[in-house]
Amino acid sequence: MNKTLQLLLKRASCRAFTRKRVPAGVVKNILAAGIQAPTGGNLQPYSVIKIERRASIDRLAELCGQSFMKKAPLHFIFCVDFHRLKRWARMESAPFSADRSLRPFWIAFQDTVLCAQNLCTAADAHGLGSVYIGPIFDRIPEIRKMCRLPAGVVPVVSLVVGYPSVQPAPRKRLGAKIVVHNEVYRKITDRELLAGFSEKYKGVRREITKKDLETLYRVCRSVHGEAYAKRSVKAAEKLGYINRAQVYFGLNYQADRMLSNTPKQLKMLSRAGLSCFGPDTKTT
Ligand SMILES: Cc1cc2nc3c(=O)[nH]c(=O)nc-3n(C[C@H](O)[C@H](O)[C@H](O)COP(=O)(O)O)c2cc1C
Repeated sequence: MNKTLQLLLKRASCRAFTRKRVPAGVVKNILAAGIQAPTGGNLQPYSVIKIERRASIDRLAELCGQSFMKKAPLHFIFCVDFHRLKRWARMESAPFSADRSLRPFWIAFQDTVLCAQNLCTAADAHGLGSVYIGPIFDRIPEIRKMCRLPAGVVPVVSLVVGYPSVQPAPRKRLGAKIVVHNEVYRKITDRELLAGFSEKYKGVRREITKKDLETLYRVCRSVHGEAYAKRSVKAAEKLGYINRAQVYFGLNYQADRMLSNTPKQLKMLSRAGLSCFGPDTKTT
């Protein structure tokens, strides 16, 4: 099989790293590959913060609550960046509203992630391992301060990179039969849908604990009401374990918290200089 395809098909997130540093030439290559990713209008509304200092890595790991991050020698924070374009537009006497408009943000977010994923694949090609870190979203104010990000430069995701100490195995996915639609969206049957997820999460079980059941009940009740909460707990008790959907949306990414945090997150994005998320909020 073609080498690129092989690389893509065997990729998996890596969370265990040796202490070996990534040579400067390799860092340069993977950054160049990231920067060569497609970008709307060839505008590159993103910046990449490279983190190699021990103290900064430790701080990032603490902020994200994931201690394995400390083991990796190289971290990248991918940010939407309207600061640079805004300055350019001002200096060139051009009009500019990208930081206050939704469409440019929509594109910039994609550009930022594409840059990250190109870099990730290039890292794989160099025999490196990597994993994305999503919770930097919860720490945007702290990371902006730590990396001295000006208004309009907002972290989207970070990538932890290093040489794997344990080679990770690819994880199961919902296959093409479920996620690919020919020409028009095909609404699969309930049976197909459940079978797809069961196959994906086969053998993964979360045993019932009193604490988890209480959390599940509380989250369900808050979002869908008492009757739904009772049904949810009963379903888990009948099954003898907490199913994956309940684990994801009831325990790991709690549906009530996701909902209630949204207004303050919009405000936070606006404060970071993306006033399309709350034009009335003062920007810094
Ligand atoms: C946007 C994003 C955020 C992620 N955040 C984390 C994270 O904070 N911690 C972590 O260990 N893995 C994180 N991951 C990795 C996913 O858990 C992983 O991609 C998923 O479980 C599938 O496994 P695989 O990448 O090995 O195929 C993240 C992945 C993405 C794309």
